[in-house]
Amino acid sequence: MRPILFVTSQLPALAQQRLEALTEVKVVQHASTHPISRPELLAAVSTADGLICVLSNKIDAEVVEAAGPQLRVISTISVGYDHIDLDALRRRGGISLGFTPNVLTDATADTTVLLALMAARRVKQALQTVAAGGGGFSLSTGLGSQFTAKTLGIVGLGRIGCATAARLLPFGISRVVYSGSQPRDDRAGPLNAQFVSFEELLRESDLVCICCPLNERTAGIFNRRAFAIMKPTAILVNTARGAIVNQDDLLEALDKGLIAHAALDVTVPEPLPGDHPLVGHPHCTILPHIGSATEETRNAMSNLAIDNALAGIKGQALKAKVDLD
Ligand code: GLV
Ligand code: GLV
Repeated sequence: MRPILFVTSQLPALAQQRLEALTEVKVVQHASTHPISRPELLAAVSTADGLICVLSNKIDAEVVEAAGPQLRVISTISVGYDHIDLDALRRRGGISLGFTPNVLTDATADTTVLLALMAARRVKQALQTVAAGGGGFSLSTGLGSQFTAKTLGIVGLGRIGCATAARLLPFGISRVVYSGSQPRDDRAGPLNAQFVSFEELLRESDLVCICCPLNERTAGIFNRRAFAIMKPTAILVNTARGAIVNQDDLLEALDKGLIAHAALDVTVPEPLPGDHPLVGHPHCTILPHIGSATEETRNAMSNLAIDNALAGIKGQALKAKVDLD
């Protein structure tokens, strides 16, 4: 019998064609446009040899414990893996975890710059003005800010953080600072970026980009205390994970003018209900988690996830594996 590869979502067209042409595994796919239900996910892991999942599939201890002894690999089509309980995988043993770093760096950094520019140039307000039939050249209204001679703060100088800084430097940024669990001299050198404490980054930066993973060190670090330290003219961009920002504290900060604008590709929950106060807030721009959403990148991510899954099922080394040790 061929091993079973269970896939929780439809893939983008090119990767989907490849998946359907696979002969070495039997592909079982959740085909509906609705997300897979919990019972379906639990049933899937009980029989599958490999699982390809996405970040909206919560792979918690219950799912890991429901896995049959044949399950050898979980391959997420994402660079983030905060939706997966690593301790449960360690306890269980024998399941490798694949993810999709590198291939989405450019697209996600592009989205970070997009949000930074949208916030700086007050694009939300401008689009609303046009939609209401207003607008036209005005010398004195709708004025934003620009990045020339400003300080950029990168929270988490990983691949995406570096690519974001590299994109923003040509806008005239005069100084790059970054915070994180440790200095990254190798990465910081070419950007002339300076390692600073989180507090210093908040205090000094005109534009703060969140590019770190969500984990126990980063959950909720953008809270009331952080917003009180930031400049009232500062822009906050989050293309990482919603839970790094305390949204109640953010709302309060925007209402009080503690920061100028927040531009978010990620929220808690996703999607945010349309009547959530951040959605209609004049100083908050929200995108629906499209950081990596290009044809090129989503196909590359899906292909890497297929490679990881096939390798895991065969007991071979994964191309991109999360180190569980
Ligand atoms: C997207 O958010 C990802 O982690 O790939
Ligand atoms: C994610 O890919 C990162 O390292 O920034």
